Amino acid sequence: MNKSIQVKTASSNYELVINQALIKNYNFKWLVEGKQILVIKDSNVPKEFLGDLKTNLSRSNPSKLISIEIKTNERNKSLEGLQPIFEVLNEEKFNRDCVLISLGGGITTDMVGFAAATYLRGVNLIQIPSTLLAQVDAAVGGKTGINFQGAKNNIGAFYQPNLVLIDIDLLSSLGEAEIAEGMAEIIKHSLIANKSLFEELEKKIVNKIASDKESLIQIIYESSLIKSSIVSNDEKELGDRALLNFGHTYGHAFESAMALEGFSHGQAVGLGMVCASHLSLLKGKISKNEFDRIKQVIKLAGLPTKLPKNFNYSDFREAMSRDKKILSNKLRFIVLNSVGRAEISNEIDENLLKESLKI
Ligand SMILES: NC(=O)c1ccc[n+]([C@@H]2O[C@H](COP(=O)([O-])OP(=O)(O)OC[C@H]3O[C@@H](n4cnc5c(N)ncnc54)[C@H](O)[C@@H]3O)[C@@H](O)[C@H]2O)c1
Repeated sequence: MNKSIQVKTASSNYELVINQALIKNYNFKWLVEGKQILVIKDSNVPKEFLGDLKTNLSRSNPSKLISIEIKTNERNKSLEGLQPIFEVLNEEKFNRDCVLISLGGGITTDMVGFAAATYLRGVNLIQIPSTLLAQVDAAVGGKTGINFQGAKNNIGAFYQPNLVLIDIDLLSSLGEAEIAEGMAEIIKHSLIANKSLFEELEKKIVNKIASDKESLIQIIYESSLIKSSIVSNDEKELGDRALLNFGHTYGHAFESAMALEGFSHGQAVGLGMVCASHLSLLKGKISKNEFDRIKQVIKLAGLPTKLPKNFNYSDFREAMSRDKKILSNKLRFIVLNSVGRAEISNEIDENLLKESLKI
């Protein structure tokens, strides 16, 4: 049976549906019948998934059904990258009632979300995320956007979809490294909001959850539930949504200070969560045993738990002070209150920061 989450925000209500075989079997009729549909597929998503989706969509009798492919890299997540999407919409005379459907990872859901937010000042949107990271994070919460002049996600809109379909079959073509990217966010969600999910991960990660479909559905459900409920209460990132930055203040600084080491976002967040948990231990919020358990889960998820040998503190510190999420030059961190609860801390001095890196 489908698992479902009702997302309620100030601007709209919609459903997140989680299961396997959704692209083949979900009944789109209520949203698609008689409408013009454009599916925008990430070029790395296997063609058979698009075939299955289109076969299913045509059963709901859309008035038009077109699909295009986009290349997904951070360079193409840009105004130029959006051009082919707007061109098709314009040339095919898509009207206000049309539906855009994304089929791809976070780059695709961010781009298609932004196209839907801006074409004719807003059209219908179905997000079908195809990476674990997009399923538990990027496609949940309504943040959409593109990169501009080297800055990440600096042009965008808060725009909620009509529907998010989380089909775990789409994950079958991902490699272990991409699964680990999503696991970083799932671990984060458990640490900030759900102790029993963390304990579940401790058991399941050892047994490779990706091969156990029922557990995977449950874990994705619990994880998206955490993100969507935080977002429902704080759609525009004014309060609790900041808790989702756990591990990210360190992570963003690792990412930019160690760009040349090829550190991915998920790896940087994994390492960032180890440091942020260490900070929580130093502040007396969690025990040494809890810290060790957190580190172990992050390690078993395939994420780094040690600083690289050539780590340079001044590069790291410089990158951290450029972080737009640090307010009024104060170091602002999310720390754990206990496993499963987080809080904002503004009282971190330089020595404590240095100490927290000794993991
Ligand atoms: N809007 C938000 O709230 C939010 C949150 C987190 C991240 N993001 C954004 O998401 C992006 C990262 O997302 P991502 O990790 O999904 O990256 P991505 O979209 O680049 O996908 C990762 C890789 O997997 C490929 N891929 C996608 N689905 C596949 C499939 N089923 N089979 C095989 N290959 C597949 C992609 O082509 C890409 O090479 C970043 O741009 C980030 O800024 C947005």
